[in-house]
Amino acid sequence: MKPFLKTLSGAATQDETGKKTELDKNQVPPIWLMRQAGRYLPEYRALREQAGGFLDLCYNPAFAEEVTLQPIRRYGFDAAILFADILLIPDALGQKVWFETGEGPRLDPVVSAQSLSLDNVTQHLEPIIETVSRLSHSLPKETTLIGFAGAPWTVATYMVAGRGTPDQAPARALAEKDPEAFQGLMDIIVAATIDYLAAQVEAGAEVLQLFESWAASLHGEAFELWCVAPVAAIVEGLRARGVQVPIIGFPRAASCDMADYVARTGVQVLGLDTHADRKAMVKNVPENIVLQGNLDPLVLVEGGTALEQAVGDIKADFAGRHYIFNLGHGIVPQTPPEHVQKLIELVRQG
Ligand code: CP3
Repeated sequence: MKPFLKTLSGAATQDETGKKTELDKNQVPPIWLMRQAGRYLPEYRALREQAGGFLDLCYNPAFAEEVTLQPIRRYGFDAAILFADILLIPDALGQKVWFETGEGPRLDPVVSAQSLSLDNVTQHLEPIIETVSRLSHSLPKETTLIGFAGAPWTVATYMVAGRGTPDQAPARALAEKDPEAFQGLMDIIVAATIDYLAAQVEAGAEVLQLFESWAASLHGEAFELWCVAPVAAIVEGLRARGVQVPIIGFPRAASCDMADYVARTGVQVLGLDTHADRKAMVKNVPENIVLQGNLDPLVLVEGGTALEQAVGDIKADFAGRHYIFNLGHGIVPQTPPEHVQKLIELVRQG
């Protein structure tokens, strides 16, 4: 079995009555990194230039396949993540999306689902599904293929603001002022995301991740309504369609009870951000849930003894637990590629 999937099935067979799969204290965890394909790699920058815009790269199956494979070839990660973006869903729903060079995403802001439609979603995202299908054939046989989408709240924050914001104020204000319109917007994102992820799995994705990058901007009832319920609806919708693959939830920097988040959403893996308290997570999150994360991307930039120390700490805290080595957030563009090589050696040296 692929190492990545073995970790997932190992945890799934842990039960709370005390019957446990034996876990080697010096186990080598599977490793992949969020944004492992991207601007820190010279081969990515070269292909990106050839493709034209960032969206042109996402919608070109041959290029997107190649970019997904680049970090696998260079480092031999245990998993490859489909090269795409969470903002392809708004694009597929008919919202205008573009990327300003050096500035990030821009969208024509919306205040409801009124101008959006599910009609062309499947057709619009066909090239991405083609990329998944190609990858399911071209990846090494030991490498697991991860599909993904943004969690609805995070996607909605960009759709309402028309860009990234430090505090997600426009989406929070709309949810507060007109909860019905906001619910309509969330419902159409949920529906499109279920179709999209089911198609990714049908084409060969073996695991799915839902990126909730802006979980920290909601608390209490609003967090339940807009972060927990939509993710639970996606998990439930996928299961109702017979999609059985493990699902990774990543509520970055959320201040909620994580055991509760896992129980309510139904995810099998919990992604931990840089600031998560690992010891508390090991104690509080049930053992049949796999933990993932949470190396600081800036420690990967720094390298040297700081990196050695941080990897040692993560391994020590997660010893005896099924976990996946990863960062607490995406790789930053200034990361020296040789530090990634070093990280893999440190993780795999047992
Ligand atoms: O992880 C991977 O290697 C797979 C590909 C992937 C990208 N974006 C490629 C990308 C994934 C999983 C994402 C997710 C994504 N996209 C998130 C959630 C995760 C997170 O980082 O919080 C968000 C919020 C987005 C939206 C987005 N896309 C922003 C805000 C930006 C601009 C910031 C930046 O880094 O440039 C993007 C662009 C983007 N998405 C790039 C890449 C490689 C850089 C584009 C370029 O080449 O110029």
